[in-house]
Amino acid sequence: MQPAQQEPVTQDIDALLAESLAAITATEDEAALRDLEVKLLGKKGAVTELLKGMKHVAPADRPAFGARLTEARAAVEGAIATRRATLEEARVAALCEDPSFDATLPAPRPNATRNGALHPLTRVTDHIEEVFRAMGFMLLDYPEIDTEFNNFDALNIPAAHPARDMQDTFWLAQRPGETGPRRLLRTHTSTGQVRTMRAFAPPFRAIFPGRVFRYESTDASHEHTFHQVEGLMVARHTSVANLVYSMKTLLSEIFEREVTVRLRPGFFPFVEPGFELDIRCQVCGGDGCSVCKHSGWVELLPCGLVHPNVLRHGGLDPAEWQGWAFGLGLSRLVMMKYQIEDIRHLLGGDLRFNTQFRRG
Ligand code: FA5
Repeated sequence: MQPAQQEPVTQDIDALLAESLAAITATEDEAALRDLEVKLLGKKGAVTELLKGMKHVAPADRPAFGARLTEARAAVEGAIATRRATLEEARVAALCEDPSFDATLPAPRPNATRNGALHPLTRVTDHIEEVFRAMGFMLLDYPEIDTEFNNFDALNIPAAHPARDMQDTFWLAQRPGETGPRRLLRTHTSTGQVRTMRAFAPPFRAIFPGRVFRYESTDASHEHTFHQVEGLMVARHTSVANLVYSMKTLLSEIFEREVTVRLRPGFFPFVEPGFELDIRCQVCGGDGCSVCKHSGWVELLPCGLVHPNVLRHGGLDPAEWQGWAFGLGLSRLVMMKYQIEDIRHLLGGDLRFNTQFRRG
């Protein structure tokens, strides 16, 4: 039979406190202090054990017992902190007196193999932001979780529209009794179009880069989670020529040379007319590979003139205002720039991949 648990009393706390304070003062180095700290305050430490014993204290005595224990614990913590500072000061003072220590020697060189580096997605995003800022664009940031309205309806894609199937997504479950708009992981950065129109008085130009999500199977050029950069300009007069010029400027800045592109008609319910701007595959040089699906071209920059219905959703009168927009496939642009043969490397987290992009 187990002996009955003895009821702890406040005198036990006083005794433990006195003993602990003496032991703390007697420690000679920081390692010993760390060990003592664990013995006193750790999960199985003496102070913690007393706390666990609280259940054996008579209910009437518990408040006084608890208050005393809290005080004692704070005193132990305070004494440990004070002793730590004293020991550390003594260690540094001793080090300074050591004749072999030369404070004027240069610090060890950082270990080049362990240095961090910016991810290629971050580097290209930074570059794009720089290019567009120079052209007078605002940089905006919108949430990854958005409403069905901003992702679809506001973009002229009503519930039954077949374009919804082209961008299947992850929906957030609604809690029982929850009302309000259905929410989802945005399938594209175009969610920011109407948000921007409602937030800023035209004329304006803005880009909004970000992560987007699609419920689709993956391959060398498709991910379920990838990055886009949306560009939007609203003014009294805009033109396809102006749109194409901005996109060409962007591409020649990013690639630091002319790249071959082709413009073809493209359908998106939120632009009219709509285009697809494709880039000659930089992985295979146009000969055909798994990235370009052996076509020699990669879909990169769909774009067009903003549809009047979208302007209306944004509170703008299409008789007065016009706009153009593009949705750059940033992940694919990074693949083209660095000739990455599989998009899944980008978010795979494999250090052998990531460490190849160190500056210099
Ligand atoms: C869109 O997302 C439209 N919002 C783009 C747009 C904006 C059109 C403004 C007109 C005006 P699309 O689904 O084609 O369009 O995607 C845009 C780009 O994202 C593609 O050209 C491609 O480069 C990239 N992309 C699309 N799906 C994936 C995927 N699963 N993995 C990686 N990149 C993708």
